Formats: sequence, structure tokens, C-alpha cells
Amino acid sequence: MAKLQDKVALITGAGSGIGRESALRMAEDGAAVMCADRDFAGAETTAGIIQNRGGRAGVLQVDVAVESQVREALDTTVSELGGLDVIFNNAGIGGAGYGWEQTIAVNLTGVYHGLFHGAPFLAARGGGVIINTASVAGLVGLTGRVVADELPEGAGAYVAAKHGVAGLTKQYAVTFGTRGVRVNAIAPGYIVTPMTDPVRELEGGVEYLESLHPLGRLGQPEEIAAAAAFLASDDASFITGVVLPVDGGYTAR
Ligand SMILES: NC(=O)c1ccc[n+]([C@@H]2O[C@H](COP(=O)([O-])OP(=O)(O)OC[C@H]3O[C@@H](n4cnc5c(N)ncnc54)[C@H](O)[C@@H]3O)[C@@H](O)[C@H]2O)c1
Repeated sequence: MAKLQDKVALITGAGSGIGRESALRMAEDGAAVMCADRDFAGAETTAGIIQNRGGRAGVLQVDVAVESQVREALDTTVSELGGLDVIFNNAGIGGAGYGWEQTIAVNLTGVYHGLFHGAPFLAARGGGVIINTASVAGLVGLTGRVVADELPEGAGAYVAAKHGVAGLTKQYAVTFGTRGVRVNAIAPGYIVTPMTDPVRELEGGVEYLESLHPLGRLGQPEEIAAAAAFLASDDASFITGVVLPVDGGYTAR
């Protein structure tokens, strides 16, 4: 049997990159997927791919920084897809170019909204799984060319937000463990998605990013999706409160 057969997953940031690949992967593993994103067209494209492959998917326009929209997404997922078992709080914005307020609002408060409303919601339904997208920047500071010699606006906020996601993951895992809700985070290294375009487009940018990873390359969004699908499945039934690096060894040194 497919590992997520009969499960329903709500994925934020499903309109691009890691969220899109995770939606496709969870659907391939048997889940019905609610593709939520601030970018409705992107989410629609993801859902369309799933439907074309014979899977079940819905589309929702959600800004995770707006608490009421996250809360409503839970009910809508149940009414449209018949349940809710997995919440993947994945939506996020890149560091440079965004200021403190916006980065914290999306990358930290957005995840908090998913946990604050999602954990009791799943517990009341008998249990479930929450996965948050942190980052290697949730475990260590960012170095070198990515932040240049000065800290560009937003990089410190990105690191603070992602460390906050790691903390929230542990706290919600502790609080909701006996209520049947597992809560974990994934800490990706640099992944080939639109978010890393600005750094990869710098001269020597790709080589520089590759050099940060002991595996000598960047990650692909499918590799994060595989970890998310694993954490969502019963294969991870005794795993909770973990911030799992999927980073080609980035945090190993
Ligand atoms: N790409 C990387 O190297 C990398 C590394 C570590 C962590 N991450 C994290 O992975 C997650 C996904 O990033 P990605 O690389 O797929 O980027 P991406 O830009 O390809 O996708 C992010 C998606 O989130 C959506 N989004 C942004 N703000 C939103 C909001 N307020 N409400 C709802 N949706 C919103 C965007 O519309 C987009 O579809 C983010 O949390 C990011 O911080 C990425």
C-alpha cells in the first residue's frame, strides 16, 4: 500500500519549489493534497499536475502571515478533501531584500499560525503530523558570500525566524506528543528553487554554494520532498521534536 494512502495533507507554499515537489511526492504516495499558497496561480499549477496524474488535490489562496486565513484553511481542507492528517508549514521568503518585520511575519509567525491552530485541530481529530520547514539557518548562522561582509537586510531576520521554527517544533512536539500529534522540522541546505536564484545567478555563485556542502552540490527540491513524505508517514511513527538536516552535510562541520 502507498505510504500515505487515504491521508490528506495541507501544504503551504505549494505553488513553487520545495512545497510543489512535496505536494507531488505526497500525492504520488497516495495522499490527497490541499495546495495552499499566497500565489494562487502557482498552487493551481501544482494541483493541476496532481490531478493530471490521477491524484486528488485542491487549491487555496492563503497568506500564512494572516492568522484567520490559516485557521480557515484547516476547515476548508476537511470540507473539500474529507479529512486532515498532515500539515506542512513550508511557505517562506528568502532573506536578503526582505526586512525584519516581513521575514518574521511570514517565516516565523506564519509557522506559528499553522502550529497554534493546526496542532489542537489534529489532536481533536485523533492525531496527525505537522512538518515545518526550517533551514540550516535554523541551526547555524549564514556565512560568506551569501551574506557578503555586511549583513544585508533580512539575513539576520531569516536566521532568527528559522531558529524560532526549530524551537516551536520542539515545544509543540512536547506539548502534543500524548495527544497523537508528531511535530518535526526539516532543515534544508541550499536547494535549487526560485528562492536561491539571486545567489546562484551571482558570478561563481553556484560553485560557492556547492563548496558549502560536503556532498559538493546543491540539493534538489525532490530530496526535501522525500524527507517530508517520510516524516509524514508511519515509518516515522516514533520521530517527533526533531529538526532534521537535509543539507548535504552543510551542518556537519
Ligand atoms: N531553497 C532553499 O535553499 C531553502 C533552504 C532552506 C530552507 N528553505 C525554506 O524552504 C521553504 C520553501 O522555499 P522554496 O525554496 O521552495 O522557495 P520558493 O520561493 O520556490 O517557494 C516558496 C513559496 O512560498 C510562497 N509564499 C511566500 N510567502 C507566503 C505567504 N505569506 N503565504 C503563503 N505562501 C507564501 C511563495 O508564493 C512560493 O510559492 C521556505 O520556508 C524556505 O525558507 C529553502
